[in-house]
Amino acid sequence: MDLYLDTAEVSEIREIAAWGVLSGVTTNPSLIAKAGRPLEPTIKEICAIVGGPVSAEVVSTHAPEMIAEGRRLAAIDAHVVVKLPTTVEGLKACKALASEGIRVNMTLVFSANQALLCAKAGAWCVSPFLGRLDDISWEGMELVREIAEIYQVQGLSTRILAASIRHPRHVAEVARLGAHMATMPPKVFRQLIQHPLTDAGLEAFLKDWARAGAN
Ligand code: E4P
Repeated sequence: MDLYLDTAEVSEIREIAAWGVLSGVTTNPSLIAKAGRPLEPTIKEICAIVGGPVSAEVVSTHAPEMIAEGRRLAAIDAHVVVKLPTTVEGLKACKALASEGIRVNMTLVFSANQALLCAKAGAWCVSPFLGRLDDISWEGMELVREIAEIYQVQGLSTRILAASIRHPRHVAEVARLGAHMATMPPKVFRQLIQHPLTDAGLEAFLKDWARAGAN
């Protein structure tokens, strides 16, 4: 499973990319607005840092405009994946952009049937938002499980990008379920490597080594 950052903060992306385990980045209009920089140079810079898929989302809501906007986003960099909302208009735009060879990430997926339709429309990946389902007392992980099963049984090649991840257990669970990618905020990414027993064990090793005067 590939690990993605869900942010438009370039400094965070640069820092975590240096770990050597980052495969891509997802953004959305809220994240771009939060970063406070214009979309195009931000996406271009992120693509240069990551060298992997970078999702950039359209803000139009009707297919013709979504298609035009998607083409503009895709022209920013070869790594751009165009993100479209999972609506009827989004499906139409997905079909058109996919037929031009543009990779599409269908976002705001909250049901298995939506994911099925996205695959039929030629999406490169779907983004089930598990945290937002958990927030309303639904089982977000069940959605990922259902989509993974349907895609496998039906032989659909659309990838699953687990999104709206809130904590490290989400990451391990979606990996078990066979998600192809998981995108998470920098805070959760950093939590993946942390373990108090690792810190305590290392401290003890170094203390013992120093006490013995070994070199
Ligand atoms: C994914 O592509 C979305 O940008 C993101 O995961 C949404 O997460 P949130 O529910 O924490 O806003």
